[in-house]
Amino acid sequence: TQDRPLAGKRALVTSGPTREAIDPVRYISNHSSGKQGHAIAAALARLGAEVTLVSGPVTVPDPAGVKIVKIESADEMLAACLAAGAIDVAVCAAAVADWKAAHPVTAKIKKQNGVPPPRLELAPNPDILATLSKPGPTRPSLVVGFAAETENLIANAVDKRKRKGCDWIVANDVSPATGTFGGERNTVHLVSAEGVEDWPTLAKEEVAVRLAVRIADHLGRPRPA
Ligand code: C5P
Repeated sequence: TQDRPLAGKRALVTSGPTREAIDPVRYISNHSSGKQGHAIAAALARLGAEVTLVSGPVTVPDPAGVKIVKIESADEMLAACLAAGAIDVAVCAAAVADWKAAHPVTAKIKKQNGVPPPRLELAPNPDILATLSKPGPTRPSLVVGFAAETENLIANAVDKRKRKGCDWIVANDVSPATGTFGGERNTVHLVSAEGVEDWPTLAKEEVAVRLAVRIADHLGRPRPA
């Protein structure tokens, strides 16, 4: 129908930061608020999609009408995404930590007088966007990633789209002057195989609604034979 164009479609959204344990009390993370990803999940649900939102630790409220799966680490985020089953569209808005502790320990690392600080060895995290984008029979028909850059935004986003194998990249300018990080508004560019679309500065909710409408238009199009 017209106001629920995503009825019958399944969507997966990742949102928020990940938290990578060093020991039971310490972790590596970042400042992602989850605002943009949560707003996208809510917007897709309002258009009728069955949405699974896989979220790292955030303080924004759980959006209405979505199935929320709360995880901490990137490994858990990937497992939750793969467990979501067949999906039509994936939107990876999470700020996944690039690295995790190579050797997390189960007991708190003790500070001892005269003992030098421990060295933290890092290991790479799985790339969830690249994993979901891999060609194959279960690949979603549309995979959307984000690129946050302070310089060479478009060139980096075009490159990232190819490198990750996703269909669209939502490129956002996170220069400090824009106030994007943790802020209410976002200035984005939609990068696809067709080219680059510049969107005006909008509230994150409005970016989410526009993106959801674009996703509905795309999934509603007859498939090329
Ligand atoms: O490589 P970079 O972190 O700049 O890419 C950003 C995009 O990739 C975002 O869509 C983010 O959600 C996704 N990503 C991911 N898993 C990672 C790293 C990034 O899904 N390990």
